[in-house]
Amino acid sequence: MAHINDNYLKLKAGYLFPEISRRVNAFVEANVSADVIRLGIGDVVKGIPRPIVDAMIEATEEMAHDESFQGYPPDQGQEFLREAIAEHNFAARGVHIGIDEIFVSDGAKCDSGNLQEIFAEDCVVALTDPVYPVYCDSNVMAGRTGEAEEDGSYAGLVYMPCTAANNFTPEIPTGHADIIYLCSPNNPTGTVMTREAMAEWIAYAKKEQAVILFDAAYEGYITDESIPHSIYEVEGAREVAIEFRSFSKNAGFTGIRCGYTVVSKELKGRAASGEEVDLHRLWARRHSTKFNGVAYPVQRGAAAAFSPAGRQAIQEIIAFYLENAAIMREKLSAIGITVYGGEHAPYLWLETPEGHDSWGFFDHLLNEAHVVGTPGAGFGAAGEGYFRLSAFNHRAKINEAMERISRL
Ligand code: MLT
Repeated sequence: MAHINDNYLKLKAGYLFPEISRRVNAFVEANVSADVIRLGIGDVVKGIPRPIVDAMIEATEEMAHDESFQGYPPDQGQEFLREAIAEHNFAARGVHIGIDEIFVSDGAKCDSGNLQEIFAEDCVVALTDPVYPVYCDSNVMAGRTGEAEEDGSYAGLVYMPCTAANNFTPEIPTGHADIIYLCSPNNPTGTVMTREAMAEWIAYAKKEQAVILFDAAYEGYITDESIPHSIYEVEGAREVAIEFRSFSKNAGFTGIRCGYTVVSKELKGRAASGEEVDLHRLWARRHSTKFNGVAYPVQRGAAAAFSPAGRQAIQEIIAFYLENAAIMREKLSAIGITVYGGEHAPYLWLETPEGHDSWGFFDHLLNEAHVVGTPGAGFGAAGEGYFRLSAFNHRAKINEAMERISRL
């Protein structure tokens, strides 16, 4: 019999969101008439903007003709898309990113899960707690941790607790780390990192010769001009940081799939021989070996997200979800729930009301209000006592969910 990767057996439970779906489906089966409102997984509900869809239709039509048909896409993504990304997401903010430093992919989840493959098994990984589960689980699978503890944490990882007590700001570890995962705007807490905080992380990474894996999938939600949209806006990041971006939560591509990763050409790692190696070269090798590119029509659609009409439509969608978040903040605060986030992010992070732990509050909301959220403990031990609500839903559903919660 083939030996399995035993590290998979260390994983405590199923992946968080399928686990929630399982519980919700069981509830729905037992309560067929319940009108369940889903504010759990951060999945968008608004249609993809027309200029983007038109670009995808046109590109699909091109595929029907020998003269314009496209086969395998270029490894790192179409130049027209990488040029639009470099211009609009970086040059427009004063940052130079070469188009050869951009790797177009099927999304930030996949890239943030896969990137750890280019590092050695004995690298020390630092994570915020709570954390987007992909960063943690992918390192468990790769064997960089010991067994799970009772509270769901894993031996061998460096956890940086983020709670109300430290304003959800991860403290720089006192010891060494090789790989550091940061996410701003943060999933799940919905809070943002300042330029000064990013500069401190860059200084720490330089001192420890560590690499920061910076997830900026929600940067479109930043409403305060002083908050960087990219870690590359901060001096020194090119030597220490890799950045993940996504078209999911802005252009509505959660089902279409497109994102990208920026790997600066200044980043280095060390081989067992002691030799310095370009991380860009390693990721390029991994990407071209295990990935065959994003569909041409999807890349045309992603590029159309940068057209004037595409940008305008995306701004309107983001404003809509942020207004949902503002409504939720107001209604929940009015009934005495302490709420964080939701100002530069589509997520609200609540303190669970007295008498409920986070899975208890999940059950309570589901059973009594037929509203689905995500228990904070599912994102890590320090998420216990917290609960995440997503602002991705239609306005009527948001209003109805708030009404039901207020009546509890
Ligand atoms: C979430 O709910 O945290 C997100 O939808 C997860 C993701 O983007 O993969």
